[in-house]
Amino acid sequence: MLRRRLEAALYCLFLLLGSFLVVESAIGVNWGTISFHKMKPSTVVDLLKSNRVEKVKLFDADSRVLKALMGSGIQVMVGIPNEMLASLSSSSLASDLWVRQNVSSYVVKGGVDIRYVAVGNEPFLTSYNGEYQSYIMPALLNIQQSLAKANLASYVKLVVPCNADAYESSLPSQGAFRPELTQLMTQIVSFLNSNGSPFIVNIYPFLSLYGNSDFPQDYAFFEGTTHAVTDGSNIYYNAFDGNYDTLVSALTKIGFGQMPIVIGEVGWPSDGAMGANLTAARVFNQGLINHVLSNKGTPLRPGVPPVDVYLFSLLDEGAKSVLPGNFERHWGIFSFDGQAKYPLNLGLGNKVLKNAKNVEYLPSRWCIANPFRDLADVTNHIKLACSVADCSTLNYGGSCNGIGAKGNISYAFNSYYQLQMQNEKSCEFDGLGMITFRDPSIGECRFLVGVTDHRSLSSRSSGESALIWVSILWVFWTLIL
Ligand SMILES: *[C@@H]1O[C@H](CO)[C@@H](O)[C@H](O)[C@H]1NC(C)=O
Ligand SMILES: *[C@@H]1O[C@H](CO)[C@@H](O)[C@H](O)[C@H]1NC(C)=O
Ligand SMILES: *[C@@H]1O[C@H](CO)[C@@H](O)[C@H](O)[C@H]1NC(C)=O
Repeated sequence: MLRRRLEAALYCLFLLLGSFLVVESAIGVNWGTISFHKMKPSTVVDLLKSNRVEKVKLFDADSRVLKALMGSGIQVMVGIPNEMLASLSSSSLASDLWVRQNVSSYVVKGGVDIRYVAVGNEPFLTSYNGEYQSYIMPALLNIQQSLAKANLASYVKLVVPCNADAYESSLPSQGAFRPELTQLMTQIVSFLNSNGSPFIVNIYPFLSLYGNSDFPQDYAFFEGTTHAVTDGSNIYYNAFDGNYDTLVSALTKIGFGQMPIVIGEVGWPSDGAMGANLTAARVFNQGLINHVLSNKGTPLRPGVPPVDVYLFSLLDEGAKSVLPGNFERHWGIFSFDGQAKYPLNLGLGNKVLKNAKNVEYLPSRWCIANPFRDLADVTNHIKLACSVADCSTLNYGGSCNGIGAKGNISYAFNSYYQLQMQNEKSCEFDGLGMITFRDPSIGECRFLVGVTDHRSLSSRSSGESALIWVSILWVFWTLIL
């Protein structure tokens, strides 16, 4: 009798706890660092904090970034780059070392709250031709063992961020993993499931729109569509839900229809292609956040939104490859220097984004085309400058596409000059370049001033200005005398 009562009481307690534990999905961000102009990691962590971001996803385990996150209380996903999978899958020693150096040493009191380790990043992309596929399972098993040895196996969860091209179908209900991946996916998902890990997927309606001229534009957004997709009794009003449910169907087909799903990357670029602009990025991201936080879920998972959603991305990364397109360097909700590109309510307490504070800029000067010189021989200089520095906004669809021939030259010169940390020589271009103190930005086309993450540089520039003052005083002095 007593036991019955105890059981009943326990059951009530569970129900009660359950109702408190209904976890709403949270918005986090991806923090990538492939940039020529990096802010100090502590400046970025302050940016996260002032925007009340509590979850951040990294692509590696950069010690400078992790040190800056210490004591922040921010939950962190660290990543293992695909290039490291071969060694981690073949050597438990390597995986022990990786876990020790990049996880255990941080997960201490006052350290970094590492919750996930992403094993590889989109390792199933068709463009990799299967290069990484065979490493995933052995790497998962090795790292899981290393985590267990470090007593972290129940706290730190392994995940495998998956690109959306791992599954396919014309209708969400028909979703299935690519045939050659089915067996591997079954193994992986079964491992994740027994481990209490979610399935992580990256979803990009922008890429569907960009890669397919027939794709109905309004279906990529969340504002309603004249191209709704009817799938049996379900109707889809946006590409995100359609894609998500295609994954739900694919998971169901391999026996894991209940698998929790985390969106590892989703976002919209603001520059570098026709459909990539500030308005579209704001409308997409705000629509996505509102949609997810409404807890509506999708037709196949009504009322169950994704566990977490990591926006791609926090900051622009101007050193990324433009192979996918010039837009690749413009995914940030903030520009490279932590300035909000548009108003966005992340649903985390602030109504709009707050800019980064105490950003250490190089001095306010730019390199432009010398207006007094004949610029006929400039082609090679531009080619060289833009082969290393970022000129992605100059091209068709970019914010600087309409600034004219001279503007093009100046833009290229300046990008290179800032990349070289405003080294005077880097503005020479055989006498065709010229340093100016007036901001040459035109309309939406911004001529950047670099930032630095090294104190030394800013002290050098104050040293320089001290020198200038001394010379002014000297001139003044000689004039008086
Ligand atoms: C820890 O992670 C960093 C950054 O991803 C990597 O360079 C380093 O090799 C890792 N450490 C070990 C022991 O594998
Ligand atoms: C911005 O992009 C959207 C589509 O993504 C497009 O409909 C719109 O015309 C673009 N706006 C500008 C000003 O180019
Ligand atoms: C400026 O450069 C871009 C990219 O190379 C090009 O599309 C555009 O036509 C150029 N403008 C002029 C006026 O040469």
